[in-house]
Amino acid sequence: MKLVLDYLKQNQGRFVTELCEYLRFASVSAQPQHKKDLLACAQWLVKHCQQIGLDARVCETDGHPIVVAKTKREKNSTKPHFMVYGHYDVQPPEPLELWTSPPFEPRIVGKNLFARGSTDNKGQNFAHLKAVEAYLKTGTPLPCDLTFVIEGEEEVGSKNLSTFLKNNRKELACDTIVVSDTGMPAPKHPALTYALRGIIAFEITLTGPARDLHSGIFGGAVENPAMALSQLLAKVRDEKGVIKIPGFYQGVAALSKYEQAQIKRYPLSDAGLKKLVGSPQLFGEQGFSPLEHRSSRPTFEINGLTSGYQGEGSKTIVPSWARAKITCRLVPNQKPAHVRKIVCAWLKKNCPPTVRMKISAGHGAEAYLVSPTSKPAQAALRALEKAFGTKPILMREGGSIPIVNEFKKVLGADTLLLGLGLPDDNAHSPNEKFNLDCFANGQRMSAFLWQELT
Ligand code: BES
Ligand code: ZN
Repeated sequence: MKLVLDYLKQNQGRFVTELCEYLRFASVSAQPQHKKDLLACAQWLVKHCQQIGLDARVCETDGHPIVVAKTKREKNSTKPHFMVYGHYDVQPPEPLELWTSPPFEPRIVGKNLFARGSTDNKGQNFAHLKAVEAYLKTGTPLPCDLTFVIEGEEEVGSKNLSTFLKNNRKELACDTIVVSDTGMPAPKHPALTYALRGIIAFEITLTGPARDLHSGIFGGAVENPAMALSQLLAKVRDEKGVIKIPGFYQGVAALSKYEQAQIKRYPLSDAGLKKLVGSPQLFGEQGFSPLEHRSSRPTFEINGLTSGYQGEGSKTIVPSWARAKITCRLVPNQKPAHVRKIVCAWLKKNCPPTVRMKISAGHGAEAYLVSPTSKPAQAALRALEKAFGTKPILMREGGSIPIVNEFKKVLGADTLLLGLGLPDDNAHSPNEKFNLDCFANGQRMSAFLWQELT
């Protein structure tokens, strides 16, 4: 291991330069105008994997391509086989005016590397590639076979990867999947995440008049769709955050004593959280802590709300339509299809007859929950401790990685979630960053992991 660790230490500068190159691709999966950037990014990644010494290829899909890169196999290898999953697509960078430097022009300030995709997920995933590079370039034998699957559609629901898994079951069959696409509470506090929330996404459009109307001439006699949508959405929950849609909480379980104890070890206070998010006060259903609210309770969120005139100054109209982009985060035991059904039925039932409602369905995924005491989980905890020098904490997280459920269903394998992102990394926000200590220690963690897992 000394050779591997020395190689990692000696090459940090180059690794950061390479990561910056990777971050220059504007691989925004949600925006069709970036299709070419996603392809170029996938091709760059394949070339990079080949330079490291992996067998790599771009796999076309109906959407953005998937990169598959494998360690060279001995004939009839009997070594354990692990998959490292990650994504090279990123969230839209808007609003651009809030970035202190352009999102696709990486910039280093002290220990932080700023760019869209730096923490989510290019930087985190790249740490694993660098660890393998260290094994291969120092001639250190890997105790396992590795396959990297790096997709371009995670941020839009991983639909095509799911098909790809089913079509390539044999090649991708593995013992465990390793993913670094979650968080850790602080640079010196590594974490093993044992649960993720699920998700359903949809858009509601309410249409009233056939066109925008003069609000002086017609206002009062026709429904205002923006008002109707506001009133409808306001009925979804009470002031404390309890969702009033009947059946929404069906099956939602309380945390066990063991889990409650783990939460107490989380090194971010409520005051610290409040400061981090910049809200005047924290919020949430009574009887639950903020960490529970954001990891193990379901939510109904408006992600975007649009209607009427958005330009400067005023324009006196009754808008023709209003639209909301919604996602609900789901927890174990909530079935996405069922929750979607009851939520849509409730919205339709409560929609006033003065507007027409259209609901279009988006992606969906179940929550994920895995044992933190399994053998692979214990191995991961040891690798984290060796790399970061601190006992890792076990935690649930509120984000979603849709494909991890498919890994279990299609490949029968559990996923180890070993996140390297910090709470202040600004994932999905302006000025996203990645901490370079997390990058370096993440590489060490990955290097140790293959030893501990075998
Ligand atoms: N890296 C995140 C998931 C994540 C972040 C998990 C923090 C736990 C903690 C991932 O890239 C992501 O953003 N996923 C989306 C999935 C959705 C678009 C289907 C999410 O959670 O919003
Ligand atoms: Zn993300």
